[in-house]
Amino acid sequence: MNSFTFKNTSLYAEDVALSDIATQFQTPCYVYSKLALTQAFDNFRAGFVGTDHLVCFAVKANPSLAILNLFANLGAGFDIVSGGELARVLAAGGDPNKIVFSGVGKTAAEMQAALNAGIFCFNVESASELIRLNKVAVAMGKVAPVSLRVNPNVDAKTHPYISTGLKNNKFGVAYEDALNIYLQAAAMSNIAIHGVDCHIGSQITELSPFLDAFDKVLDLVDALKQNNIHIRHIDAGGGIGICYSDETPPDFAAYASAMRAKLGERNIKLVFEPGRALVGNAGVLLTKVEYLKHTESKNFAIVDAAMNDLMRPALYDAYHDIKAVKPRDSSAQIYEIVGPVCESGDFLGHDRNLALEEGDLLAIMSAGAYGMSMSSNYNTRPRAAEVMVDDDTCHLIRNRESINELFANEKLLPVTS
Ligand code: LLP
Repeated sequence: MNSFTFKNTSLYAEDVALSDIATQFQTPCYVYSKLALTQAFDNFRAGFVGTDHLVCFAVKANPSLAILNLFANLGAGFDIVSGGELARVLAAGGDPNKIVFSGVGKTAAEMQAALNAGIFCFNVESASELIRLNKVAVAMGKVAPVSLRVNPNVDAKTHPYISTGLKNNKFGVAYEDALNIYLQAAAMSNIAIHGVDCHIGSQITELSPFLDAFDKVLDLVDALKQNNIHIRHIDAGGGIGICYSDETPPDFAAYASAMRAKLGERNIKLVFEPGRALVGNAGVLLTKVEYLKHTESKNFAIVDAAMNDLMRPALYDAYHDIKAVKPRDSSAQIYEIVGPVCESGDFLGHDRNLALEEGDLLAIMSAGAYGMSMSSNYNTRPRAAEVMVDDDTCHLIRNRESINELFANEKLLPVTS
């Protein structure tokens, strides 16, 4: 079910008109559907009923406390990549024992915080990190549960910036080196080997790269067993794509049954780290047309959202569908949808066929993942408000930033005479 639909020629989030949200909370504003979030999570899990599994939402996709809290209440774990994300998950009521900690640059302080919290597993990305983690754990008198993130050298066939499983990426350890590093880990006093981890990229729209990577991970698990290292869980990472325009990503059921079939009779828990697939299509960015500008070669719709609010088009040339909240009958024109930021790269969509007038509202679709989380204050623009719709009710889950907050931490130089 799509939670953003037209009713009486006006776009709604569940049972709330987006135009009412704009009146109440102004624009730009991120709007999420609680139903869409809940359904995505439940659908993802449905394929794994009967299999020991843990779904760890990748916090980086959308770290809103309200969203983390919703997923925590549904039973989710979390994939974090920083001490900041750890603090957020704990503040949102997440269970520390369902947290996996990924990332190539964990600091000693972040390791300490995670050991104190008692997380489920560290996804270790290098031999040096393993040595540091052991040292930190020794000093604290704790044992660190680890997986090694292995790099299966599989082409995820996605945008190069978000492909992570190739040999030349900075992530993980080379597949060929993994066994050796596991043997080193096994000899470390305060490291407990629990799993094998692998994440090959994001916005992957075919099943085969996942299966190829999983095959290699299973081969490694079997090789480890022969070396008397018994793996309790496999973390298959995230990466399942969503439909932004006409992509046909693997559906959750097909993904789950293929992974389960490959796992076979092995008594191993499956861990997943989906981000985008759980939140991407559960959110839109609501924006208002400030000006229409017609030049000799192009028509511009200048809107009040910009690359600082949604960076994906500028950074990856990513496509997001753009819908008029109240479509007009008048004849449409081809528009560049651009923001007020002083960069030519500040666009939200190219060549969109829309009938527009100044003051109209637009919804930038599929903005629930890597939208707010990648936003910035560039051009000293306060970050947008965030609203969660639940049936016919909306909740402000993050205030629009005030301009004063933006420089509250800054100081002038001392006055010199
Ligand atoms: N696990 C790890 C270790 C990751 O690095 C990522 C994403 C995920 C899980 C979640 O992947 P997902 O299921 O969301 O594909 N900013 C980019 C996406 C960067 C993804 C980074 N890692 C974008 O806007 O497309």
